[in-house]
Amino acid sequence: MEQAPRILSWRNMLVLSLAVNFSLILKIFKSSGGNSLDRTAVSGSSLLSSASCKYSEVEEDDGRILNLKFGDPTVYERYWQETGEATTMVIPGWQSLSYFSDNNNNLCWFLEPELGKEIVRVHQIVGNAVTQDRFIVVGTGSTQLCQAALYALSPHDHSGPINVVSASPYYSSYPLITDYLKSGLYRWGGDAKTYKEEGPYIELVTSPNNPDGFLRQSVVNSSSEGILIHDLAYYWPQYTPITSKADHDVMLFTASKSTGHAGMRIGWALVKDRETARKMTEYIELNTIGVSKDSQLRAAKVLKVVSDSCDSETAKSFFGHSYDAMSKRWKLLKQASKDSKRFTVPDFASQRCNFLGKVFESQPAFAWLKCEEGIVDCERFLREKKKIITKSGKYFGDDQSYVRISMLDRDSTFNIFLKRITSSSSSTL
Ligand SMILES: Cc1ncc(COP(=O)(O)O)c(C=O)c1O
Repeated sequence: MEQAPRILSWRNMLVLSLAVNFSLILKIFKSSGGNSLDRTAVSGSSLLSSASCKYSEVEEDDGRILNLKFGDPTVYERYWQETGEATTMVIPGWQSLSYFSDNNNNLCWFLEPELGKEIVRVHQIVGNAVTQDRFIVVGTGSTQLCQAALYALSPHDHSGPINVVSASPYYSSYPLITDYLKSGLYRWGGDAKTYKEEGPYIELVTSPNNPDGFLRQSVVNSSSEGILIHDLAYYWPQYTPITSKADHDVMLFTASKSTGHAGMRIGWALVKDRETARKMTEYIELNTIGVSKDSQLRAAKVLKVVSDSCDSETAKSFFGHSYDAMSKRWKLLKQASKDSKRFTVPDFASQRCNFLGKVFESQPAFAWLKCEEGIVDCERFLREKKKIITKSGKYFGDDQSYVRISMLDRDSTFNIFLKRITSSSSSTL
């Protein structure tokens, strides 16, 4: 025991310590696939695009099942990893104990003031919606807000449930969230394109549309009795050119598709009419007594970082990056469609985007893919022959020859998806 200090001199100790530290660093580097070092090195966002390109190139198809059925926005994960600490939050235990927010008696009494401020700021910077003289109602995702809007806009007299319609192909959740509680206030009324009934109705207008990505306006051919809810989840510059500020009575937005933070469960409504906003707030009060303060504070921070990135003179904005990612994917998918001829995707008109200052075609969050050449059930075909899980057109009020495919998955999944739909092996595509 006594000999140890003599055997290990300070020089030996120094060399030993250096060796141990070096091997530890190497181990961490290897186990993270190089990411932990990458992350510190590329926290300045000018390096982001080259990093994400590298990431997307090399992918082997390991034969796994690809699930592209949901619009899970993991394409944004890498951007947020590389952005580093800017959106990290520490919430002390004493914070957010109260149900209430300290927001000067705002009509939506549970809205965190920081979130309200950042919502207005991001819309002003992007120019995609009017915020002046609007009430903001925050919700647990825009799914809750959609139901809050139905509750607020339905007649509460005894005239019976009002019909809720949307033009096919419509977002598959609309019929489900309208009817699952069998409300006496509202009920699903089907495809707005063929709706002919007299009297008041509510039309859900989704623009850009889920699933097909087209820009939309209300379609019911009726004089005046339609009440409109505009679901603008995808009216952001990574998906479509921003041509003007949307200015509708009730507009729904969500962090899920704008910044990619679906798990945060934060959405917001911009509402013109005070009474509608009050009733929407009442719905959320009855349903969940407000919206998680932790999530609201986090959403405020994420939106602030997004807006700061747009204001920055030197770094590329969040929307610049996400635009590039979507643009690259759509170019590849369109080329694949041309090469294969066995499936088609929609064509979109080019328009000038006021925010990005360039002309481009919509590059939606979903591909509305049509199987050609006699494939009747496209969903089944892709599942059985290509191990790709998609959502059949029938859930969107349309034909089984269509499927909806998420364009928002990670690079690795997207690249394997492309390889599979272009390869002829084990299939006829
Ligand atoms: C058109 C549309 N509206 C609303 C939602 C739901 O958003 P949230 O995650 O905020 O509930 C989605 C999600 O896919 C959607 O596509």
